[in-house]
Amino acid sequence: MNWKQLLLNLRLIKLRRFFGSLFYPMQRDLLERPFLSSNQVFAEIGDIFKAEPIARGAKFYFEKVELEIYFLAADLVRVNWQPGVPPIPYAMAGKDWPEVAVEFQEMGDRWLISTKVLQVIINHNGGLTFQNHLGQIIRQELPPQLKTAGWLHQAKLLPEEHIYGLGERAAPLNLRTPQDGKPSTTSYLMWNYDAGGRYGPGTDPLYLCIPLYMGLHESGSYLIFYENSYKATFSFNGYAAADFEGGALRYYLSVGSPAQLLDRYTQLTGRPAMPPRWVLGYHQSRWGYETEPAIREVTQGFKTHNLPLSAIHLDIDCQEEFRAFTIDPDRFPKLTEFNEELVDTGVHLIAIVNPGVKADRKSELFEEGRSQEVFCKTINDQLIIAPVWPGLCAFPDFTNPKARHWWSRQYEYLLDLGFTGFWHDMNEPGIFVLWGDPSLPQHSTLHFLEGRGGNHLEAHNVYGLLQAEAAYEALKEYKPELRPFIVSRAGWAGLQRYAWTWTGDIETSWSGLRITITTVLHMGLSGIPYSGADIGGFKGNPSAELYLRWFQMSCFLPFFRTHSANNVKPRTPWAFGEPILSIVREFLWLRYRLLPYLYTLTWETNQTGHPLVRPLFWADSKNPQLWAVEDAFFLGDALLIAPIVEEGATSRSIILPQGHWYHFWDDAPFPGGNQIDIAAPQEQIPVFVKAGSVLPIEENQQLILHIYPPVTGVGGGRVYSDAGDGYGAWRLDEFYLQRHEQNLEITWQQQGNYPFPYKNVKLHVHGLEVQTAWIDTQEVHYQNNCLEVEQFQQIILSYSQR
Ligand code: GLC
Repeated sequence: MNWKQLLLNLRLIKLRRFFGSLFYPMQRDLLERPFLSSNQVFAEIGDIFKAEPIARGAKFYFEKVELEIYFLAADLVRVNWQPGVPPIPYAMAGKDWPEVAVEFQEMGDRWLISTKVLQVIINHNGGLTFQNHLGQIIRQELPPQLKTAGWLHQAKLLPEEHIYGLGERAAPLNLRTPQDGKPSTTSYLMWNYDAGGRYGPGTDPLYLCIPLYMGLHESGSYLIFYENSYKATFSFNGYAAADFEGGALRYYLSVGSPAQLLDRYTQLTGRPAMPPRWVLGYHQSRWGYETEPAIREVTQGFKTHNLPLSAIHLDIDCQEEFRAFTIDPDRFPKLTEFNEELVDTGVHLIAIVNPGVKADRKSELFEEGRSQEVFCKTINDQLIIAPVWPGLCAFPDFTNPKARHWWSRQYEYLLDLGFTGFWHDMNEPGIFVLWGDPSLPQHSTLHFLEGRGGNHLEAHNVYGLLQAEAAYEALKEYKPELRPFIVSRAGWAGLQRYAWTWTGDIETSWSGLRITITTVLHMGLSGIPYSGADIGGFKGNPSAELYLRWFQMSCFLPFFRTHSANNVKPRTPWAFGEPILSIVREFLWLRYRLLPYLYTLTWETNQTGHPLVRPLFWADSKNPQLWAVEDAFFLGDALLIAPIVEEGATSRSIILPQGHWYHFWDDAPFPGGNQIDIAAPQEQIPVFVKAGSVLPIEENQQLILHIYPPVTGVGGGRVYSDAGDGYGAWRLDEFYLQRHEQNLEITWQQQGNYPFPYKNVKLHVHGLEVQTAWIDTQEVHYQNNCLEVEQFQQIILSYSQR
C-alpha cells in the first residue's frame, strides 16, 4: 500500500464514502488473488513452413503461429497473428473497402507482398519490414512473441524517429522524450484511469487511452493501430514495444503524410460526428452550480457583462444525492420551463451522467437494472458493488447490447426536461479506492462482450466508448432531428463517432496549461479531434494572469469550456475584474466571429478525420525542426497559434513553418522557416495567418472574407454552412485566390442547396494596397482595402505592394 496515495485519497473522499473505499479494495484484492501469479511464458513462434497467396494478401504458417497479411487499401494493411481470441470490432466503422491490386512474390527465404505504395517483406522468422514505394524502410518489426496470455510486439526505431499518439497523454509531444527523473525508456500504460481529482505533466495513464501511434522519421511517416483493447504497456527506447496482457495480435499499418494517415485511420474507425454549431461557442461550468437561482445568476452575469455564452454544464450537484438520471426537484423545480427560457437566449444546459447506479433497493433504476441482469458481476455471480459519488454503486455492463439498450432508454427523462447535451464522467469506470487500481476487478469481473464473454482486462478500455455509443443511439432515436452532443471523459478508438472529450482534472498551474497543448495534439493524432481543458485548471485558484492566458489559448481549441472543482473561487470572466474582463470579452467575441471558420473545420474533420488542432509538422513533416514543437499549434490550415505558457512572459519565440505568414493582430509579414521573437502583451497571444488563406469571419450577419494573398501562385479558403443542426440541406462556398504580377484574382464557387446565410459579403485584403477593384466586368468602390459585395463569380483587384 502506498501511504502517500492513501493520505491524498483520504482527503478527497468524504467519510460517508470512506468505508466503501476501504472495503471495496479489500474485496477486489481477495477476488483478484488467484490471478496474481503472472509468470509470463514466452513462446518462440518458429519458422515459416508454408506460404500462400490469398485475396488482397497472403497467409503464412509458422511452427506455432499463423500470420495473415491483408490489404484494405493500397496504403493500409491489416496484420493478423494467430492464435488469440479475435477482437470484437468495437473500434471499427464497418467500411467496405474497394478492390486493391496486391502482388505476392517469393524471394528465397523471404516473401514480398506489395501494392503500388506499400511493400511488406516477411522474413522466415516472422520479422516484418514495411517499405514505401521507393523501397525506403518505413518500419522494421521483430518476430512477435506469444505469451501465456497476450503478445509482445516490438519494432526497431530509427535514431531520429519521433512518436506521437496513444490517445490522451500528459507527456512530451515526442513520446520518446524521457520525462524528468525517469529512466530513458519512456513507457505508457493502456488503461483508462481516473487521475483522482488532480494531475500534472508526466501523470500516466489518463482517462482515454488508444493503442495507436504515429512514427515520423526521415523516410516518412506511418500509423499503427492495434485492435486490442486489453491492458497493455507501450514503451519506447531503441525499440517500440507493445506488450498486451491478452487478446490477439491484430494491427493496422498505414503509410503516408500525417493528413493521409488520419484520413485512413478514420475511414477504418469512423469519421468524427458532425456536432451542432452552438457547441463551438463558449461553455461555462463549475462543480457547484447547485440551484436554478445559481444558474440564473451566472447567465445574468454573462448578459450584464456583454459576454456571449452557449452552454452551462450541470455537475453532480444538480442530482438527487448524486444519482444518475435524477434532477433534484427542490433545487430545480421547473426545469423544463427554465430550459426553454435558456434555449431561447441561445444557452444550452448539459447534464452530467455517471455510469455508477446507486445500489439501493428503493431505487427503480437499480431494481430494473438488477432484474434485467445488466450490471457487471464477478466470477462468483455476485453483483460488483463499489463506491463512487452516490455511495455504493452497480455498474452497467456496456459490452452487453441489452445493457446498452436499457441505458439508452434512460436519456429520455433528461431529454424531456430539455437537456440538449450530456457529459459522461467517471466512465473509465472510476471507483473510489484507498489503494490499488480505481476500477472494477480486472480478472474477476465478468463481461458479456457481445455473448462471447471475457473479463475486465479486455472490457475496461472500451467501457466509456460503449457508454457513448448507447447515449448516441438514444439521442438519435429520441431527437432524430438534432445532432447528438456528448462529451465523454473516457473512451477508446472510435470515440470520435459519438463524442467529444476534455482533458479531465488537470492541475491549476503553468505547466498544466502548457501540457494541455500536447495532450490535445496527441488526441488529435489519435483520431479524437474535439477536446479542450478546464480553463484555469480543475483544482486550485489560478492567478488572473494564468486564467487569462489559459482562456486566450482555449479560444482556439475545439472545446472551449471553463470548469473547476467545488472548493475553488468562482471562475467567471468578471471574477477577475479589469482589465481581465475586457480582454476575455474580446477573445470571447473573436471566438464567435470565427464560427464560420471553425464550423467549416468541423465539416472537414467529418469528411477527412483531420483534427482541428494540429502540430506544426502537419504542414511540413519533412522539416525535423518542427517535429517536437509542443508549445504551438495550427487551428485548421490558416491559423497558427503560439500561446503564452510562462508566467510573466510578454513575448516568446516561435519557429514558423515554411511559407509566408501574417501577424493576425497587425498584419506584419513574416517569412517562414525562421525562428522569430514576437511580442505578446497581456491583450494578445501570438496568432499568425498563412499567406494564401481566406479566413472567414462573421459579424452582424455579414460574412467577412479576410484575404491573405499568397506571395506567388494560388491559395484559397472555404465556408461550409447549413442550419447548424439536424441533417438537412448544406452548402459549400469555395474561394480561390490567384496572384498575378499586377493583380489578385478571387473566384467564388458554390455547391449545395442551403440558401446563402449572410446578408452580404465583405472582402478585407491584408498585406497589399488595393488600387482598383473589378467585380465580374464592373469597376467597384472600395475603402480601406475593403469592399462590400453581393454574390460574385470573379473579382480582380489591382494592387501595389505595402
Ligand atoms: C470528476 C470530473 C470533474 C467533476 C467531478 C465531480 O473529478 O473529472 O470534472 O467536476 O468529478 O463530478
